[in-house]
Order: sequence, then C-alpha cells, then structure tokens
Amino acid sequence: MHLTVEERAMLAGEHGPALQKAMEIIVALGTIYGAAELVPVTSVQVAGVSYKNLGQAGLDFLREWAAQGARVRVPTTLNPAGMDLRAWRELGFPQTFARQQLAVVEAYRAMGISPTCSCTPYLVGNVPGFGEHVAWAESSAVSFANSVLGARTNREGGPSALAAALTGRTAAYGLHLDENRRARYMVDVRCPLRSGADFGALGYLVGKMVRNAVPYFRLSTLPSPPPLTLPLKTLGAAMAASGAVALYHVEGVTPEVQRGEMLAPDAERVIIEDLSPAYAALNAPVEQIDLVSIGCPHASLDEIAEVARAVDDRRLRAALWITTARQIKDRAAEAGYVATIEAAGGRVVADTCLVVAPMDALGFRTLATNSAKMAFYTPSHSGLQVRFGPLEQCLDAALTGRWKCET
Ligand code: F3S
Repeated sequence: MHLTVEERAMLAGEHGPALQKAMEIIVALGTIYGAAELVPVTSVQVAGVSYKNLGQAGLDFLREWAAQGARVRVPTTLNPAGMDLRAWRELGFPQTFARQQLAVVEAYRAMGISPTCSCTPYLVGNVPGFGEHVAWAESSAVSFANSVLGARTNREGGPSALAAALTGRTAAYGLHLDENRRARYMVDVRCPLRSGADFGALGYLVGKMVRNAVPYFRLSTLPSPPPLTLPLKTLGAAMAASGAVALYHVEGVTPEVQRGEMLAPDAERVIIEDLSPAYAALNAPVEQIDLVSIGCPHASLDEIAEVARAVDDRRLRAALWITTARQIKDRAAEAGYVATIEAAGGRVVADTCLVVAPMDALGFRTLATNSAKMAFYTPSHSGLQVRFGPLEQCLDAALTGRWKCET
C-alpha cells in the first residue's frame, strides 16, 4: 500500500502514540481489504457512544486514547448516547449508568469531537458534498451519506471511524471506489408506498434479500412531496438493519443516477408487489402499548411539527418519546412544538435512542413505532414487544394506549 511521507511518519510514531495507534488501525484495514492507498476524509461520524454497549472496558479504552493526546483532525460528530444527557433524571435513567455515560461523552469531547449524539448528523450540520470521502459509522447515516448525498463511505466501526478522525484518512477500498458503487440488484417496486412506514417495510424486505449488495430501485410512485429526507432515511435505515446495505440508488431521485449509469449490466431483477410480509414479521401480537417511539432515525423538525399538530390539545394514555438531536430539539422548543407535545404528556428526548438506552431499567414492556429499524432491533436489544405501523397508527396508540389493528 502506498503511504505518503506524512502517513509513514504517523505510522512510525513520530506524531505520538495516539496517532500511531490510529494509523495502525487504518493501515491494517487497508491491508485486509487490499487498498492501494489511503484517502483524506472531510468528516467522520463516530459510533460506540452508549455506555450500555461500551461498558467499562470501552470507557477505559477511550480515556486512555484521549490521555495519550488523541485529537481529531477533521469535523467529527457523535452517534446517540445511552440517555438524554440533560433530562436523564426525569426520564428515569439510573444514576450509576448516567455517571459512566457522561464520562464517555467527556472522553470524546476531550478528543475534540462535537457531542451531537445523533444518528442524523446530516440534519445538524455534518453534510458532506457529492463525491466527498468521509468515514462514517452508524449504518443508517452511512446509507444516507452514500445514497442521498452521494458522498463515499464504508460502514465503519467505532474504532475505525475514530482512527479516521484522528488521522484524517481512510483506506481506499469498498464504496470509496467507483467500481463498487454500481447496483447488483434492480428492485422493481410495483406497490404504492403510502407512508414512511411503507418505505421502512420495503427496506426491511430488500435488506433481507440483497444482504450487503447495492440495490437500484424503480418505484411505481416516487417519494413526494420533497423534502425526501423522511422516506429515504427510513428506507436506508431498514435496509441497513435487516441486511447490511450501505448504498442504494433510486431512479430519478438519488444523485449518482443523475450523473451516470449505476446499474450493473448483469444486475439481478427483483419484483416487490406486497409489503405485508414485512408488517407480519415486525409485529408482535400485543394490544396494550406502554411507549410510542417516533424518531428512528432521529426526527427532523418537520416530523416533530407533525406530531405536535396531531397531539395538540389532546391527552396521551401511553408514553410518547420523540427521539432527536439536541440541536433539533432546541429548534422545536423555539417553535413551540416541545411545549405542545409535553402538554399532551409526551416527551421530546435528545441525545439517545431506544435501542442503545438501557430500556429494561425504565419499566416499559411494549412499544409502538413507525420505524422498521427500531421494530427490527428492539425485541432483541431492549426486550420490548413491538408494534410497527404508520405514524397515524402510532399516534393513535399514544392517545388510546392500545394498538388498533387495521381491518
Ligand atoms: Fe438512530 Fe437508534 Fe434508530 S441510532 S437509526 S434511533 S436505532
């Protein structure tokens, strides 16, 4: 692998042990995947933030790296933590967990990382341009960066993303290279997509089918109206969960298909005519709902506004959490949406996500969500029984405390 003079100096430890360790990780990955060189990255999204997943060993590792002088060289944002960093007491998170979680965020902050604690960095200022090389962890964000923004990233893990942030480099393999960005599957979608949940259901089915390959969608109805953020972030998140899809193309919509042929000549054709198998797979037979979750991936301001309109002047029977980035919550508060939702009994919860939060400590047993990704993960990660459906059905469950099955 070709390394520049500066990269060789980092690897040799001439810039200190923190940078040496980071460069060793980047070079090891490049060697495994046969990269010819490294490429500079313009931004990084780091995952591995929740203390629930990191544990004490993870926290010690981060503290040690920070103490060795690890400092990021490029703008770097953070994935969700295991709790709302400010409202954790009111929400019932245990103090022992909170103490360790705050220490994790502090270690990242010491490295110069912005504690955005969100899986939608592209909604809070980390927006790479078309063709830019980045190193992002968090599968739904990776999918959005590659597909909707046209940037280039592999699915990084926590340590490799952090190493990229410290060195400002990543190894040039996988989705950084033109030849790996063409679709191997042509997915002909013949059923209508009526809601964000339908896009999630589609993503669930296609992710299971294509695993880690690149699909190319031909939709009978294009997502509308703009902006396309909600349907596409939902679609990508679900495919990244049920499969390991890191890039997809949508004919007439995503940027790379506007610039060239992105379908491989020998692409396999798949037809989707029915989304009901996804709804069947992601729904448990529970009626009583303890908690309704909106905001997976983290909610945009528009999504919060929609919830506020729906619950205005109403009283909720189930708990309602809308998870979002702190910056978006602040904007929602300024617009009056947070007050409206809280008056109904709901919460706009920042910095966290139900999959990485210690939900078993909070007493919830059943969950309703409009996110296929959340419906896919929460039974195994958080021990909750889950209902999955469109936003209206979820908000009805929040108002009545029951899941109304469609006839
Ligand atoms: Fe984000 Fe958590 Fe969903 S990280 S994509 S809210 S599972």
